[in-house]
Amino acid sequence: MNDDHTHVREFFGARAADWDGRFPDDGPAYAAAVAELALRAGDRVLDAGCGTGRALPPLRAAVGPSGVVVGADLTPAMLEAAVRAGRDREGCLLLADVAALPLRPESLDAVFAAGLIAHLPQPEANLRELARVVRPGGTLALFHPIGRAALAARQGRQITPDDLRAEPNLRPLLAGSGWRMTSYADEDARFLALAVRES
Ligand SMILES: C[S@@+](CC[C@H](N)C(=O)[O-])C[C@H]1O[C@@H](n2cnc3c(N)ncnc32)[C@H](O)[C@@H]1O
Repeated sequence: MNDDHTHVREFFGARAADWDGRFPDDGPAYAAAVAELALRAGDRVLDAGCGTGRALPPLRAAVGPSGVVVGADLTPAMLEAAVRAGRDREGCLLLADVAALPLRPESLDAVFAAGLIAHLPQPEANLRELARVVRPGGTLALFHPIGRAALAARQGRQITPDDLRAEPNLRPLLAGSGWRMTSYADEDARFLALAVRES
């Protein structure tokens, strides 16, 4: 396990037990973001960095019983909290690094990733790995239930121009990793960038 993984596991491991309790009102925002992926019944979708699986119920509702929902996360304590919350009934949970997913190429229709990208040590390579497992024309949603400015204020810091979620940085980052950004919203109450997997 490298240093980045140790840090992520320590950071989120310490927060896993009360993660859902800290953000009790986010459910509708997750459902609205999932709706923007325009999933269809029978689709196969990954929640990358699923944490406690807050997105799994709307993802399952979107793809129906014939669809496939996979949640992958690096932090065992987050997945344990997901199981305690019964989210393993909504999809298959994987203890996995998004840098090396145990999934076949082009085996998915879409990836949903909430609060993940800022924690990736190698964003371009990691986004390319997400592209590897999605079919051409499939979709990616990079979501956060709070916008960049509001998040920075909550954390007592300033947004810097090198923030990789800033539109001028994110668009080329996605383009360099197999994705074409199709929409971008950075509002007080949500961050949502959508992209399509290039052929
Ligand atoms: C901010 S939390 C968001 C959790 C969940 N998506 C949500 O919205 O509640 C980020 C999650 O990403 C996971 N994570 C960070 N780096 C990862 C990686 N390389 N592979 C898989 N999961 C990762 C963390 O363990 C943590 O659960």
